[in-house]
Amino acid sequence: MLTVEQLGNLTGKKVMVRVDFNVPLNGKEIRDDNRIVSALPTIKALLEKGARVVLFSHLGKIKWGKVDDAEIEKQKAKNNMEYVYPRLKELLPEYEVKFINATHGTELKEAIDSLSDKEVLLVQNTRYEKGESKNDPALSADWASNFDLFVMDAFGSAHRAHASTYGVPEILKKEGKPCALGFLMEKEVKNLSRCVKPDAHPYVAILGGFKVSDKIKVIDSLLKKCDKILIGGAMSYTFLKALGKNVGNSPVEEDQLEYANKCFSSGKIILPIDTVCADSMDEPSVIEIVEGDIPEALEGFDVGPKTIELYKESIKDAKIIFWNGPVGVFEKEEFAKGTKAVCEAITSNKKCFSVIGGGDSAAAAKQFGYASKFSHVSTGGGASLEMIENDGHLPGIDVIGE
Ligand code: 3PG
Repeated sequence: MLTVEQLGNLTGKKVMVRVDFNVPLNGKEIRDDNRIVSALPTIKALLEKGARVVLFSHLGKIKWGKVDDAEIEKQKAKNNMEYVYPRLKELLPEYEVKFINATHGTELKEAIDSLSDKEVLLVQNTRYEKGESKNDPALSADWASNFDLFVMDAFGSAHRAHASTYGVPEILKKEGKPCALGFLMEKEVKNLSRCVKPDAHPYVAILGGFKVSDKIKVIDSLLKKCDKILIGGAMSYTFLKALGKNVGNSPVEEDQLEYANKCFSSGKIILPIDTVCADSMDEPSVIEIVEGDIPEALEGFDVGPKTIELYKESIKDAKIIFWNGPVGVFEKEEFAKGTKAVCEAITSNKKCFSVIGGGDSAAAAKQFGYASKFSHVSTGGGASLEMIENDGHLPGIDVIGE
């Protein structure tokens, strides 16, 4: 696959770069700029080669076809890429960085054509276009018509076959124009590939989060690759109920009990043996550590101390660890111990290659000060899971290599 490093002098060339600037916002404020910072090496390398760099990204969700026009306008206002622009400018002080509040046609074309060498243009949210998520051929053709080459650096969106991640490179490749992977993509693919095709054992996966149904495909795939899967978080109650345990008020997906039961035959599933329970998540008046059955009036919000010890036993000998999903409600101090202990245990094992699959677990590791001690913290939650599910394949990677 072509990489940014392999591209020669790009003076005068208009380059479309798909980045993932889908950053968490609090109104107009960026809460975490990691995804912007992670794209800088590629942007800077292209600028140093003389390119005119045009950045495309989605931001949030726009529910086209599901809500009325007034609601679409509200969603657009909430997910305006203009909120990202000041931070991007700050991070690239030595370059001219522009913003265009347009997503297709003449206005966009003129903004691109008026760029000089070594200038950057940030384009409005790609999801302002109804056709983006549908990989609309006309939209892809409109975008592609502006460019000499394409660089994919949006790992977080590489599991989406959308116009900006798939349609454009597909067209440009047919036209014989170069399509390359950016540095962030290269790093993500290299590190996650070790979780897709493990080169050492024991390989331990730690899965948390809310729904079993969201994780079925990845569990199926990990059961073939891993030696153990430690299950925590809200999804563990479905597994515990499948074992015949009483889980009190904890969430259970009744329609997944049969699936959970099937997983036990592998002998690889490790479940919590004790739970931090409370009568309420937001205003608990009772907090108890419960071993075994959870009483009717209580709900589980974190794994207990005996489970932490059980997890540690598996984590300490692991050679590869993939972690996706906190094992408790780590945002609340009362229920953060389990997730913090997972961070501590993984990063204390100096012989293991440790990967966090993005999302909430990455936020937890950052909050507790462990993020830099992991071998790799992915910028893509959904993308890293799908990469494992699909044995290394994602539309946004495959289209570059096809
Ligand atoms: C993410 O945050 O997971 C990526 O940016 C993809 O966003 P999406 O789930 O809205 O496509």
